[in-house]
Amino acid sequence: MKKIRIGQAGLGRLGKTHAANLAFRVPGAELCAVCSPVAAEIEFAVNELGVEKSYTDFAQMCADPELDAIVIVTPSTEHPEHIRMAMEAGKHVFCEKPLAVTVEECRQVERIVEANPHLVFMLGFMRRYDPSYAYAKRKIEEGAIGTPYLVKAVGVDPDCDAESLLDSGFVPRSGGLFIDMASHDIDLMRWFIGSEVTSVAALGTVVKHMRFAEQGDVETAIAQFTFENGSLGQLHIGRASVSGYDVETEIIGTEGSLRVSPIPAKNRTTILNSAGAVDEWVRNFPERFGQAYIDEMIEFIDCINTGRAPGVNVYDGTNASIVAFAGTRALKTGEIVKIDY
Ligand SMILES: NC(=O)c1ccc[n+]([C@@H]2O[C@H](COP(=O)([O-])OP(=O)(O)OC[C@H]3O[C@@H](n4cnc5c(N)ncnc54)[C@H](O)[C@@H]3O)[C@@H](O)[C@H]2O)c1
Repeated sequence: MKKIRIGQAGLGRLGKTHAANLAFRVPGAELCAVCSPVAAEIEFAVNELGVEKSYTDFAQMCADPELDAIVIVTPSTEHPEHIRMAMEAGKHVFCEKPLAVTVEECRQVERIVEANPHLVFMLGFMRRYDPSYAYAKRKIEEGAIGTPYLVKAVGVDPDCDAESLLDSGFVPRSGGLFIDMASHDIDLMRWFIGSEVTSVAALGTVVKHMRFAEQGDVETAIAQFTFENGSLGQLHIGRASVSGYDVETEIIGTEGSLRVSPIPAKNRTTILNSAGAVDEWVRNFPERFGQAYIDEMIEFIDCINTGRAPGVNVYDGTNASIVAFAGTRALKTGEIVKIDY
């Protein structure tokens, strides 16, 4: 089967991982072009990945007739416009989460995707492709815990990365802690519970890296969710986990419960030394979700080849975003925010 020829925009924190996967680890994909306004990022792709074509202008890359698909890993504020340009140029699109940083823009993206049913659109909620989360989902579908009715989730970035996030200008362009981080957990909750969120209550604070407040965000937040089918959700998100990248999820059902990474250990080795029994933790998202980033791209390529719909669609992007925006509003107002889809 002919390889799917891909152009990727954005070669930052996550973009480098996606580009390396597309160049070397995703069967059926060929990374033919990259786009970035930063010369050093282009040099990385040309020298380290052997990419032949490079662009500094996204529109020009979309106009390249040799490309079948565009992978978008640009700042979240750019996603709607980049999706529009790529799809109007007739390209299949994989876009990183979040879909957009306003509800209006999410709806606009829905219209663009609906107007191009012959093109594949997939959003990067890669946790659904993580082997452990995918296994948990299968077990729930098999009835292992009865009917799930409560999800308790933790998603906290490593403390050692906080200052570079603040220095790089990422925070003001991220859409805020809820849209940037909680959208992953919200998507997982909707997926496991099989129902939509109806209300959100949230609290937030900054205690360690005060610049999060200066840049209009919080460092840590907690939130509670109700679902249409009566289920509940509880979430702790943040930017300052000193032990590593802390992503844990517990799903409680009528006949039992499931825990995914109750300790986000690096592997199954426990080191016994003067510190006691030490389970080292995963360091960051490329380490924790390395296989998921590959598997979601395998899904994207397969959907293009077979015409099948991807497991994560534009409406998952909108609905998770709507809940995340409600979380931001709940945080700012102190009110329980009811959600109207
Ligand atoms: N799924 C995940 O686990 C995950 C993890 C991290 C980031 N993300 C998402 O990926 C996206 C990028 O995040 P990041 O952390 O890599 O950000 P980043 O700031 O490190 O990188 C952004 C990249 O976009 C490039 N860029 C900016 N404007 C551009 C334009 N107009 N055309 C082409 N390239 C442009 C920059 O040069 C840079 O290479 C965000 O939407 C973020 O939410 C997802």
